[in-house]
Amino acid sequence: MNIKPVITTERLKIRKFRENDYTDLYEYLSDKQTYKYEPGKPITIEEAKKLCTERAKGQMFLAVELKAEHKMIGHIYFNKIEPQNLLIYEIGYIFNKKYQGQGFATEAIQKLITYQFSKSDIHKITAHCSPKNIKSWKLLKRLKFKREGKLRKNIFFNKDKNNNPIWLDTYEYGLLKEDIK
Ligand SMILES: CC(C)(COP(=O)(O)OP(=O)(O)OC[C@H]1O[C@@H](n2cnc3c(N)ncnc32)[C@H](O)[C@@H]1OP(=O)(O)O)[C@@H](O)C(=O)NCCC(=O)NCCS
Repeated sequence: MNIKPVITTERLKIRKFRENDYTDLYEYLSDKQTYKYEPGKPITIEEAKKLCTERAKGQMFLAVELKAEHKMIGHIYFNKIEPQNLLIYEIGYIFNKKYQGQGFATEAIQKLITYQFSKSDIHKITAHCSPKNIKSWKLLKRLKFKREGKLRKNIFFNKDKNNNPIWLDTYEYGLLKEDIK
C-alpha cells in the first residue's frame, strides 16, 4: 500500500507518524475513556514514545494533524487483511476526546478512503465496533459503510471475578467502492 506522504483536507493533514508525535499521542492514549469500547489500557509517556517510533517506520497507522494547531488529534489504522488476494482492508480510528464532535474523524476518513479507492487496488473496506459505541457506528454510517452483521459474543477484553471471559458482541461494517459513488 502506497500512501501519499500527506493527504490534506480543509482542516486536516493525514500523514505518516513522526517520532515527535508522542506527546499528542500520549494525551489521548493515556485517557481511560479512550478504552471504553476498545481493548487496551492507558499508556505511559515512555510507551507513547515507543509507539510513535514504531509507527513512524510503517504505514499501518496514519496520524491526523489539525492544520491550525499543528497538532496530532487522532490516528487511523488502515491495513490489508488476510488472505491478501481478496483486497480487503480494515480500518480503525481513535481521536482525542477534546477534538471530537467537530467532524474531524469524518473529514479525515472520508478523504482517506476516497483517496485509497481511487489510487489503490481495493475491493472492500471493513470496520468493526461495539454496538454500544454509538459514536463509532454513527461515524461509519456517515461514511456510507453498511452494517453487514452482528457477531454474537465473539470477543472479550476482560474477565469477571471468577476468571470467566466477559463476552461482547461486535457490529461488522463494509464499504465497497460503488457505495460512495
Ligand atoms: C469513534 C470516534 C472517532 C468518533 O468521533 P466523533 O467526534 O463522534 O466523530 P466526528 O469527528 O466525525 O464528529 C462527528 C460529530 O461532530 C458533529 N459535527 C460537527 N461538525 C461536523 C462536520 N463538519 N462534519 C461532520 N460532523 C460534524 C456531528 O454532528 C457529530 O456529532 P453527533 O455524534 O453529536 O451527531 C471517537 O468517538 C473516538 O475516537 N472514540 C474512542 C476510540 C474508539 O472508540 N474508536 C472506535 C473503535 S471501533
